[in-house]
Amino acid sequence: MHKDMEKEYLLKGITAFKRKFTVISPEYKILALSSRFNGIKESETIGQHCYKVFHDRSSPCKNCSVKMALEKKKPALTPQSVNSLDLDEMPCYFAYPIFSGNDIEAFVSMDFDLPTRGGLEENLQRSNALLRNLIQSSVDCVIAADMKGKILIFNDAAVEVFGYTEDEALNTLNVRDIYPGDQAFEVMRKLRSGEYGGKGKLKLYYTDVISKNGETIPIKLNASKIYEKGQKIATIGFFRDMREEFRIKNELENTQIQLLQAEKMSSLGKLAAGVAHQLNNPLGGITLFAKLMQEEYDLEEGAKEDLGRILKDAQRCRDTVKELLEFTRQTRHLMRPHDVNHAISRTLFLLESQTLFHNIEIVKDLDDSLPHVQSDIQQLNHLFMNIILNAAQAMKEKGRLTVKSSLMPDGNRVCIEISDTGPGIPEDILPHIFEQFFTTKEEGKGTGLGLSLAYSIVKNHGGNIMAKNKPGQGTTFIIEFPIADKGNEGEESGDKI
Ligand SMILES: Nc1ncnc2c1ncn2[C@@H]1O[C@H](COP(=O)(O)OP(=O)(O)OP(=O)(O)O)[C@@H](O)[C@H]1O
Ligand SMILES: [Mg+2]
Repeated sequence: MHKDMEKEYLLKGITAFKRKFTVISPEYKILALSSRFNGIKESETIGQHCYKVFHDRSSPCKNCSVKMALEKKKPALTPQSVNSLDLDEMPCYFAYPIFSGNDIEAFVSMDFDLPTRGGLEENLQRSNALLRNLIQSSVDCVIAADMKGKILIFNDAAVEVFGYTEDEALNTLNVRDIYPGDQAFEVMRKLRSGEYGGKGKLKLYYTDVISKNGETIPIKLNASKIYEKGQKIATIGFFRDMREEFRIKNELENTQIQLLQAEKMSSLGKLAAGVAHQLNNPLGGITLFAKLMQEEYDLEEGAKEDLGRILKDAQRCRDTVKELLEFTRQTRHLMRPHDVNHAISRTLFLLESQTLFHNIEIVKDLDDSLPHVQSDIQQLNHLFMNIILNAAQAMKEKGRLTVKSSLMPDGNRVCIEISDTGPGIPEDILPHIFEQFFTTKEEGKGTGLGLSLAYSIVKNHGGNIMAKNKPGQGTTFIIEFPIADKGNEGEESGDKI
């Protein structure tokens, strides 16, 4: 075949080859190009710098394949940076030197967009970076560990909740250490069992974890095993810190109990007000006529004494009515300094005449010089009423009730101890007595709200309450309140009861 024809076929072949095909000098000048360059006129490109024409730059590109081929004196391939994670679309440039003897005369450069090993790796790195970013910025704690418990991922949220740095977690921590006791084995057992969300999965599991400073944190866990070629290689867990959610839930439940109790007390108050109204009139009559008889009739000594007794008892009835009204009075909740002894005495005064207390000896050991406590008197009444009633019920209406008040040695708190000679509280029950609806009484006899209300009242007042217990020798409830700050009198409280 004629040489010219051969050249012509070669050129046609290059054109038919659907690639951007250029011949570039070692000075980066375009010597020839195929007709695959849309919008670029051949006449305006020949002799121009390739970086200017193709990339509008004033110097060679950083990852130029021609530059690399020039340096290495052998063919070079460079991937172009793209923002897509689509692995099929990784464009590369390929430069092949054209030698003239030992010197490079020019380069053949061609674009190339089939995935290559280099491109795959680069994309893999990019997708890894994206995944790492997703994990790091997750609101839930993300922790992954290998099958020996060595931690592989510990994201920012985990750093915040657990208090370890990422470095500490990856190098010194074992995933078992973040669980209390053998809880880690329990999680693994559940993951294995397949009963908690499918094989190798654990869904919505509530448990505790332990932070670096030893704090127990309630969490909700979703976890799964990671498999590679059928082999378990790691576990990953998504932990949600439940502290805030539980706090809000608790607050809501407390409010509900307080509302329930308020309803109970409110109907009791209405009843008491009605009874008091009905009693006050006849009591007034009894007192008036007894006094008239004393004054207007010349009575024997014995009859006078009897009238005196009638007057005394009528007065006692009026006091009871007054205290009852005071006790159940519906007022806005007002925090002001109150004498705790007074609240205790009023409660005892109302209770001691009840049949429940007839065979109970009441021992009062109240410190008269006790500083006042910033408190809501209604709440104090309810608090003591609940604890004293429990004591009487526990003693089965027979025994000794001791109420003691004192200033604590630090001088900042008052302490009230209410002891009974009942059977005491069994050790397994003791941790639950302040829980709402916890009762050991038969149905209809107890709602299990008394002590949970007492607990929330004490907490509302910045105090503490605990039960000490000697089975067989009775129970002592110990309540501590901070004393009133003198500059803080008469402050209205938004707390409800
Ligand atoms: N002084 C005490 N001695 C022994 N057990 C007690 C004493 N006080 C409380 N308890 C136990 O604690 C439980 C919870 O008491 P709480 O006052 O909350 O509810 P309750 O008395 O059962 O019902 P409610 O007070 O609502 O009528 C009681 O059922 C009882 O088992
Ligand atoms: Mg009770």
